[in-house]
Amino acid sequence: MIDIRTFQFGNFVTRTMFCTPEEILEDALLVFDENTAALFPERSLRNSIVLPSGEKAKNWQSIDKIIKGAIDASLGRDGCFCGIGGGVICDMTAFAASVYMRGCSVILVPTTLLAMADASLGGKTGIDYEGYKNMVGTFYPAQEVRYCPDLLKSLPDREFLSGIGEVIKTAMLGDRELFRYLKENRDLIMERDSDTLKEIIKRCIMVKGNVVEEDLNEKGLRAILNLGHTFAHALESVSGFSDWSHGEAVAWGLLMAIETGVELEITDNYYALEVRKMLEYYNFQLYADVDTDKLIQAMNQDKKKKDGIINFILQKNIEDTIIRPVDSDIIHSVLKRNRDKAGDM
Ligand SMILES: NC(=O)c1ccc[n+]([C@@H]2O[C@H](COP(=O)([O-])OP(=O)(O)OC[C@H]3O[C@@H](n4cnc5c(N)ncnc54)[C@H](O)[C@@H]3O)[C@@H](O)[C@H]2O)c1
Repeated sequence: MIDIRTFQFGNFVTRTMFCTPEEILEDALLVFDENTAALFPERSLRNSIVLPSGEKAKNWQSIDKIIKGAIDASLGRDGCFCGIGGGVICDMTAFAASVYMRGCSVILVPTTLLAMADASLGGKTGIDYEGYKNMVGTFYPAQEVRYCPDLLKSLPDREFLSGIGEVIKTAMLGDRELFRYLKENRDLIMERDSDTLKEIIKRCIMVKGNVVEEDLNEKGLRAILNLGHTFAHALESVSGFSDWSHGEAVAWGLLMAIETGVELEITDNYYALEVRKMLEYYNFQLYADVDTDKLIQAMNQDKKKKDGIINFILQKNIEDTIIRPVDSDIIHSVLKRNRDKAGDM
């Protein structure tokens, strides 16, 4: 294994490393979903649990299954959980580990680009509850996160592109070199060349890790990682969590955040154009034919709203992010313009 960096998140230490597929399976309670289990036929010789795949399985029943599996395997307090999967499996395995016997070790092996670039690092764990995303959870960083870009070869194209949305977000927030790299290496990225993916994953880990080291519990700075997400969550919710994948909605949300900044005359026009070009370059859908009032209504239900005010994450320029409330008239006109363009296409 090749060490990337060790982070200190509050009282937790997280070691990150690249590994080969042979170095993944650990002497631990292994947690897969049905798609990631198929990648490891040798798992049947070990203690393992296989959950249904996808967001719909991010619930109490799955946590119950993991905890029962840990008891059946006689896992003690010194035992270890190892989640091998996308963001759903990583979030749930770490959640189960955080509550089992008041906290056991957890190793995460992310297998989607979204989980490698974002979800596996930083300690947010949880499940959805009564239709609310990530309503129940803990902050519980993994002891180790093992990254194996070769696992991305079997990922469906749409899931891969979903991860690219989060990678672009990370570049906008904290790494102008990554932004340039994404512009110059699209073909290698889309071919899933291992060394190219290693470079972008490493850069995403550094940006996210540095932010979370400053603010594990999201009291301030960490909120910038939600760039584009207020818009994205509203779009996902209005379109019934089906037409748009999370990453596709995030890509659209990034454009909406940038256009809101342009409308307020705080975002550099040239930078706004660069962001649009980047999103087009990766073939993201940039216009949403969705009722503007419904989107605003969904934003008003966002759980990040405080004292009746939604704070938006906006950017003046690359690596220059601010958080501020925005008048709903401004949001309305940005969204309406976007919808009108969708109608023209
Ligand atoms: N904790 C955090 O900081 C954080 C951050 C961002 C997102 N998230 C969470 O992540 C989740 C989304 O993660 P996701 O996009 O990885 O979704 P996911 O875990 O549902 O995985 C997407 C699909 O890809 C399949 N899959 C995974 N790896 C595969 C592989 N290598 N080959 C073939 N198929 C594979 C899965 O079985 C699933 O069907 C959401 O629940 C979100 O809340 C958490």
